[in-house]
Amino acid sequence: MDETGTVISLAGGQYRLCAPLAGSAYGVVWRAQALNATGWVAVKLVNLEQMRRAPPALQARWQSSAHTEIAFLRGLAPWDGRHIVRLLDSGEHQGMPAMALELLDGDLGAHLAAEQAAGRPPAPGQALAWTGQVNGALARVHAHGWRHLDLKPGNLLLDRQARTVKLADFGTNRRLDDLGAHSYVGTANWQAPEQFFPGDGGYATDTRTDYFALGALLYYLVCGRLLRYSAACGQAWQVHGRDAAAALLDAHQGRPAVLQPDEAALFAGRIGHAAAAPALGLLRRLLAERPADRPAHALEISRALAAAGAVLAAPDWRSAA
Ligand SMILES: Nc1ncnc2c1ncn2[C@@H]1O[C@H](COP(=O)(O)OP(=O)(O)O)[C@@H](O)[C@H]1O
Ligand SMILES: [Mg+2]
Repeated sequence: MDETGTVISLAGGQYRLCAPLAGSAYGVVWRAQALNATGWVAVKLVNLEQMRRAPPALQARWQSSAHTEIAFLRGLAPWDGRHIVRLLDSGEHQGMPAMALELLDGDLGAHLAAEQAAGRPPAPGQALAWTGQVNGALARVHAHGWRHLDLKPGNLLLDRQARTVKLADFGTNRRLDDLGAHSYVGTANWQAPEQFFPGDGGYATDTRTDYFALGALLYYLVCGRLLRYSAACGQAWQVHGRDAAAALLDAHQGRPAVLQPDEAALFAGRIGHAAAAPALGLLRRLLAERPADRPAHALEISRALAAAGAVLAAPDWRSAA
């Protein structure tokens, strides 16, 4: 069992575990001290206790997720410093894949929850800026031949000083040269219809599946709440697990609508005035039920964000028509 003080040896150096930062189904992330260099890192390990208890099929899936994450992050070298967390070192610890990442200031999910509790929701301009940064990160993921499939605030790491976010957690990444239907992955609260409702043979996802999650994130950042569609998927998953899609179809006599008129109005009102039209136009495209109706490329998204952001940044935007 890993504990505070344990020293982990990876390919490039040694790291002393100092304090656990977060844990999930199979992983645990530690704040750690690099022993052969100065500074702090985040060490992401497989949770050995959970691993021992899990059935062999699940163990194999968890290990493969960790290998996928390391392979993806290694493939990004040379790292360009922008909007994707940096892999510093990798290797094995107690026979399981392990990695050292640049240490950031926690995740956006925790930050937003704290800010919301303090009555400080992000300003619309900040919400658009973060969405643009994540769009840039997704563009890199897609350009390297992968799709992420688990975009959500908990997988966005915050740099408090720069007020920027970086995409993390690439264990659910799937290659774009494998577009065949696959088994269930990701987090129900943020998923596109094709990632939540199985078709023939499984879930048919592609790059535009990540764009739906980007739309769900944009709505959440601006409105401070989940879309009702997303909340319904999340609740159904919590109650029914693998039968969630069937249960939701039953309860709603079909698929629930994604962006309802009052939600669009709330979003437009929060963005405000002249910036509302381009921002809402983008939100509708990102959240289109059919992947074919979503943006095909990051450029369309960045142009719409720039159009909305430019209006917000203009000194007289509040009095603009
Ligand atoms: N590099 C990092 N710096 C700071 N915190 C991190 C870092 N990486 C992960 N975390 C924290 O650990 C949590 C889980 O990490 P993540 O990579 O999402 O793994 P999991 O597969 O367990 O979800 C994140 O939500 C974040 O709070
Ligand atoms: Mg995660």
